[in-house]
Order: sequence, then structure tokens, then C-alpha cells
Amino acid sequence: MKPQENLNLDNYWLPFTANKNFKANPRLLTSANGMYYKTDDGKDVLDGIAGLWCTNAGHCHPKIVAAVQNQVAELDYATAFNMSHPKAFELAERISALTPDGLDRIFYGNSGSEAVETALKVALAYHASKGEGQRTKFIGREKGYHGVNFGGVSVGGITPNRKSFGPLLPGVDHLPHTWDPNHMAFSKGQPEWGLHLADELEKILMLQDPSTVAAVIIEPVVGSGGVIVPPKGYLERIREICDKHHILLIFDEVITGFGRLGDAFAANRFKVKPDMITMAKGLTSAMIPMSAVAFDNSIYDQLMEGSETPIELFHGYTYSGHPVACAAGIATLDVYEEEGLFENAQKMEPIFEEALHSIKGSNQVIDVRNIGLMGAVHFGSDKIPATELAPKVFQHCYDNDVLVRFSADYLVISPSLIVEPSQIERIAEAIKVAIKSVS
Ligand SMILES: Cc1ncc(COP(=O)(O)O)c(C=O)c1O
Repeated sequence: MKPQENLNLDNYWLPFTANKNFKANPRLLTSANGMYYKTDDGKDVLDGIAGLWCTNAGHCHPKIVAAVQNQVAELDYATAFNMSHPKAFELAERISALTPDGLDRIFYGNSGSEAVETALKVALAYHASKGEGQRTKFIGREKGYHGVNFGGVSVGGITPNRKSFGPLLPGVDHLPHTWDPNHMAFSKGQPEWGLHLADELEKILMLQDPSTVAAVIIEPVVGSGGVIVPPKGYLERIREICDKHHILLIFDEVITGFGRLGDAFAANRFKVKPDMITMAKGLTSAMIPMSAVAFDNSIYDQLMEGSETPIELFHGYTYSGHPVACAAGIATLDVYEEEGLFENAQKMEPIFEEALHSIKGSNQVIDVRNIGLMGAVHFGSDKIPATELAPKVFQHCYDNDVLVRFSADYLVISPSLIVEPSQIERIAEAIKVAIKSVS
């Protein structure tokens, strides 16, 4: 008998999941190690998505496990307001060594969604502090994902995530997304086509009045919206336009941070410096929830010096800089360095690219996209509607002990940075076999 047959599945409401389907056919994970999960029925499943783009150091890394175990026994919690503890400062210094020069001020949250809210609120507070309180608008991008809180959903551009939740934040506009399979299907890395789409920002600003805009927020590489890699020159152009109009640029690097693109941040890889970087996931390799925002020193200085009250920013979380999360973060950054995991991601990138692009030619595959260790396989509708094919391919892979992720009409693949060539090959093979079997 499968252990799950004794488990009451009624009470837990799963996030972003087809609950009724899941409860009819539950998939339960019971332990993990390195690149593998173990399921409740004893299968070893190769994790092709690093949990949820987050276990960048692999599962249950012993060094991070030990750091967490030691910390929780030594200092379980330190009061976060008016008090702190040394590891919060130590981790902030370590993060600032990885961010582009000048983004040295670190504010902690617990999730990517909270990092996004923090960044948006600080953008408003910064402009207000400079006497530009009229700058209240934000510009996001179609297909962007910035978490699930009201600010993040407002600037986000994934329709189902928005449509049941009312009017959201006022004064938000969206750039067009940059995916057009007619011009860029099966591009490897950054597409040649699409730079002109950055100029849409000028058009939006003219319509909105640039002096009323606080910030532009984008994922340097769109993650959840389908691994959409920025066209060559696109991020540079967005930066130029923001500079011209004194608008802050926020890179949401919750996925792209901590080695996913073979560098500490996408900002480093693309050599485009935003004013703020939101991060989470790989910060602790997901062992303990934690997020952060790195701010340009000028933003911090303005708020410190411009404040009329002793508390300079009325914002924060009970668990900002939680000691156990900080211990996990420090150990995780040690592991990345000691084991050369960002370098391994760079080494694996061409192997990953070739393996994913070998899926081209399979039934109903209309695009494959990749950069670093993130990739997508996009289906078109033919014999089977694409949105039905994607979950079927996912299930077939899972039945064959490989975990990928589906969303709408595409699959995403994003292994941990410890991945080896044979594991990459196995993921790509499982997808090819699955498409052949179910389409
Ligand atoms: C770019 C981006 N921003 C924000 C979030 C939200 O993070 P969380 O789910 O930790 O709130 C995510 C989650 O995947 C993300 O990919």
C-alpha cells in the first residue's frame, strides 16, 4: 500500500496547483539529496527544476544543513526591530560583495514577493524624500512575474494571476513582452531580434508623463513567464531610457540571482547595473525562506539623510534577517564559492543548450529558449491543444522519474548548479520520449 493512502488530503490547499487533479493523483516527495528527490512510493526522481528554481546548491547540502542545525540550537530568533544579531550584518556584507559595485545596502524579507513589495515601496519613499512625491507610477512588463502580493501582481504581466483580484495598484503600465516566435524561435541565448521593443518604454513614458514614474521593474530574463531571454542590447537601452528620465530601474533577480546564469546576478552577466536587485530562492538554496533587496548606495543615503524621523523607513518584517536564514545564507554563499558552482553553471551552459535544442523537431515544439541553466520548451496546438500537451509531457516525465515543470503551454527546465552532463542528457531524453508518447 502506498503511504499516501493513509494521508488525509482534504485540508491542505496547494498553491498554484490544480487541487482536485492533484488530490486524485498526488505526487509526494519525502526526502532529497543532491540532484534527486525520493517519493513516498520509493522512487528516485531526477530534479530538473532545482525545486522551483531555488535549490541552486543541490538538495540537503550537508554544509548548509549543519549551519541551520547549529544556528537553530544557538539563537532561534533575534528581535528584528531595534535589535539585531551579527550574522545579519555578515550576510549583508557577503551579498554586497556579489552585487554590482554600488548596490551595497541590503534589506531582508522572507520571500521573493516581499522583496518586490520592499523595492516598490522604497522607490516611492526615495522619490518622496527627494521632493518628488508625484513620482508614484510603476512600469512592469507583459509576461513578467513578480510574486503574488498586490504590488507584484500589479506590475506583473501574467493574465490569470491578475484577473480575479480587482483593480490592483493604480498608475501601472506594462512594456510589451519580447517573445515573438516568428522572429526568434530556437534562438540560443540572447536573440538578435527585438531591441526595438525597448523603445516602447519611451512611448509609454510620453503617455504617462515621465516625471510621474517612480520605477521600471523587469526580470532581466523572464522566468515563470517562459524563460524569455532579453534581445541583444535590450537591457542596455532600458537602462539608458530610465537614466534619461531619472526613473529607477529594478531588476527582479529572484530566479536569475545566485548563479543561474553562471554569474552572481544577471546584472553582472549582462553588465547592466540597475538601481535595485530583488533576490530570494538561491540566496539560501531554499533551505530556509529568505529574500533580500540590494539598493544602490544613493537610495540608502537619500533616505538616511532626508528622513525627518529617527526611523528612516517604516517597513520591515518580523522575520527580516532571521538568524537561521542568515546562517543558511552564509553557508550557501560559502558552498557556491568553495565548490565553484557558478563556474560549473558556466561549464554546463553549452551542454544544456545543445541538449535542450535537440528537442527541436519533436511534435508540436514551436520554440526552445535557453540561457545559463534555465530553458523552456514551448508547444503549439496541433493534434492536442498545447495547454493539454504540456501537463501530459510533465506527467510522463515524472512517471519516468524526471521532474520538469509545466506552465500554460510550455515546460521549463532549471537544474541545480551541481548538475552533470549525464543528468542534463537524461532530462532532455525524458522530454523527447514523453512528447513522442503523448502527442
Ligand atoms: C522573478 C520572481 N519574482 C518574485 C517571485 C516571488 O517569489 P516568492 O514565491 O518567494 O514570493 C518569483 C517566484 O518565482 C519570481 O520568479
